[in-house]
Amino acid sequence: MCGIIGIASYKPVSVNIINSLKKLEYRGYDSAGIATIKKDLIDEKKCSGRVDELEKILFKTPSDGNIGIGHVRWATHGIPNLINAHPHSSESVSVVHNGIIENSDELKKNLLSKGLKFKSQTDTEVITILITEELKKNKPLVSVFKTLNKLKGSFALGIIFKDFPNIIIGARRGSPLAVGYSNKENYLGSDSYALKSMTNKISYLDDGELCVLSKNEVSFYDFSMKKINKKVHIVSNDENMAEKGDYKNFMSKEIFEQPITVKKCVNEYIDNLKKDINIFNFPIDPREIKKIYLIGCGTAYHSCLVTKYWIEELTNIDVETDIASEFRYRNLKFDKKNLYIFVSQSGETADTAAALDICKKNNVKTCSVINVIESTIARNSDWVLPIHAGPEIGVASTKAFLGQLIVLYILSLKLASVRGEITKDIYIKNIQNLITLPETIKSILKLESKIQMMAKEFINARGTMFLGRGSSFPIALEGALKLKELSYLHAEGYPAGEMKHGPLALIEEGLPVIVIAPKDKYYEKTLSNMQEVISRGGKIFLLTDNKKDALSENIRFGLRVPHLDNLLSGILLTVPLQLLAYHVALLKNCDIDKPRNLAKSVTVE
Ligand code: M6R
Repeated sequence: MCGIIGIASYKPVSVNIINSLKKLEYRGYDSAGIATIKKDLIDEKKCSGRVDELEKILFKTPSDGNIGIGHVRWATHGIPNLINAHPHSSESVSVVHNGIIENSDELKKNLLSKGLKFKSQTDTEVITILITEELKKNKPLVSVFKTLNKLKGSFALGIIFKDFPNIIIGARRGSPLAVGYSNKENYLGSDSYALKSMTNKISYLDDGELCVLSKNEVSFYDFSMKKINKKVHIVSNDENMAEKGDYKNFMSKEIFEQPITVKKCVNEYIDNLKKDINIFNFPIDPREIKKIYLIGCGTAYHSCLVTKYWIEELTNIDVETDIASEFRYRNLKFDKKNLYIFVSQSGETADTAAALDICKKNNVKTCSVINVIESTIARNSDWVLPIHAGPEIGVASTKAFLGQLIVLYILSLKLASVRGEITKDIYIKNIQNLITLPETIKSILKLESKIQMMAKEFINARGTMFLGRGSSFPIALEGALKLKELSYLHAEGYPAGEMKHGPLALIEEGLPVIVIAPKDKYYEKTLSNMQEVISRGGKIFLLTDNKKDALSENIRFGLRVPHLDNLLSGILLTVPLQLLAYHVALLKNCDIDKPRNLAKSVTVE
């Protein structure tokens, strides 16, 4: 999704803005642009397409201003083209914006009626025109304040001014914004990741706050224009983990580093000597918890669904799961004895952050299972359980999904243990299984060549289905999501037992159907459902951890992974599904790390 960079320096900033925009490319975008203040004029350069294009433009016609803003745009209002690319500038001001201005039509109508002209179809240009008008009467900070008061919706903004060539103003409502500090240089960024190559000293704006940056100074203001102080965080520098190294793309790197990230995560939470789990400081006494809500979007929501099965299996706690964009508009009865768990890799997903805000307004206890610990969701939760996966750059979530599952599984075990709902023996056995998980994942990754062969059978498919029961149902959903987002092939995940209630009508000769059937209590039933698909011509790809099953001639392709424990099978069976989606996309020549239309961090509703 859109990304913002701003730099106030003593030297030309365009090269560093371009480098930082490259760091934001992973978020998904369709156009890019930069504006600097150069000899009392706003020097704006934009392109549709990649930051490389913008770099070429700057190479031919350099921008040498010492203050500037840059942007990568993920289209919301107006098609992705050059005119709609940010920044949006007038003769006196230039603006980059993340988010959506919900009342832009109304504001635009009003401005048009006053004879003001618009160049683009974007909601952002309304901000540019409003500030330009205010600047005729006011100084920059007041002009921005007055403009923000007229806006409905969400935004993170970076603004520069022709007549005030030493400052950048940043503002936040809903969309994240960070400020970085260095010697004679200060920065604005839509996430700290983009600033990390320049500084590790970061402050985060909260909703309703503004900042004014110059090369020597940063001031912060609250929504009533009162000056405030902000905490400076020293952020970890995990740059190495964010480099592609010898891998073709980030996604393959992230799939193959899962044994390492899983090990790191397990080591953070498991005390191998005491055979215990290091999770303390529950915001509610686990014995008192009445119900757990698990909330997330996309892949993170699938982690919630898997966890529902685990908590129900291991404890007597009621569990409800919801997609954050649904949760935030439900008429829920909040209860102080419930625990509300938010799952998010980025910690910046707008719907998840809004759902968390609603819980906070209702004074209930919140927990977040998060990868980016400096994120908005982490900072706003009562309790944070990090997944320790390191930066995930590929838009398709892989190692973060396994990280979420590990942490949520460990949490489920700990809850069961503290509540006395699991025997010591089973608790220790489960901990031991977790310790062997990284090696088992390593052995599954060795099946890649087989999965590559399997992938060939999907290139010409018109669609595909993923079936599973129990906790393999959300794994089926995740397999389908990975395949559709990476290879643009229509894929549906279904509970295998639900086929007869409609989806069986889709089965036709040769339709590839992936059946996820670990040797758990659903195994025989899943195989019966599989037979129903076979009888109707479906081409079966069976994934299982059962040593003995007949991978019969009716099955087009069978893949066995090692068996660890029934509850952990989902984690293991996910890995071949990631590789399958990856190889189908590779064969179809798709953009693996940046699938079309998608963004890594969905910071608008
Ligand atoms: O950063 P989050 O975990 O909150 O992101 C949630 C979803 O946008 C994300 O999982 C999305 O579904 C992925 N592209 C799936 O691979």
